[in-house]
Amino acid sequence: MLNKIEAIRNYAKKKLGDDRSGHDFYHVERVAKIAKQLAKQEKISDTSIIEAASYLHDVIDDKVVADVAVEKERLKKFLKELNFPEEDIREIFEIIENISFSKELDAGKAQLTLAGEIVQDADRIDALGAIGILRTAYYGGHTQSPLYDPKIAPQEFKSKQDYRQKGIVINHFYEKLFKLPATMNTKAAKAEAQRRMQFMEEFLAEFYDEWNLS
Ligand code: ADP
Ligand code: NI
Repeated sequence: MLNKIEAIRNYAKKKLGDDRSGHDFYHVERVAKIAKQLAKQEKISDTSIIEAASYLHDVIDDKVVADVAVEKERLKKFLKELNFPEEDIREIFEIIENISFSKELDAGKAQLTLAGEIVQDADRIDALGAIGILRTAYYGGHTQSPLYDPKIAPQEFKSKQDYRQKGIVINHFYEKLFKLPATMNTKAAKAEAQRRMQFMEEFLAEFYDEWNLS
């Protein structure tokens, strides 16, 4: 019989396999790997909730699924069938319902368990670095957003609704991505986020040099 995490991984693959907004199965697989590494740094030995929440964190997201309420019910039923204790199901939901950057714009910073903090850090690390740059450009194509417009300055978003409006790809670096390192919960995540952000800054310096050729 498949173990629980294998079954959850397959569930995520089925739900996210076709996503073309930058939240495909490989995104959650990377998040699970990063989260496991962070858990090790935090000396956590049982990582089942962390891994489960990593794989599942985007399967109830309004960007990815048509009906969030239906997907939540489906997921609950699936976890019950895997014999997850009620308490663990509650914690997994608590994590996946509260870690997103966009939710934070509306609701403020959520109080998370250490497992939740780790999954949040891992999801945010995957928004940075070389992968972060590509995901952002890819999302911009998905929403038919311009790559760059020197006449339009980055904005300060006050709500999730604001944030979800069509924007400019390069502006997203300033509007969200460069704010992420300061929001990291664990020390190891903060160091990795800063390293990835530095790479993005180097990328932007080259980008502006190429753009401004005279
Ligand atoms: P969260 O799930 O934390 O609310 P999102 O799903 O909005 O975060 O963002 C996930 C990734 O999708 C971002 O890190 C970025 O790469 C891309 N993305 C989201 N919104 C935009 C945008 N307006 N412009 C460009 N890329 C975006
Ligand atoms: Ni994610």
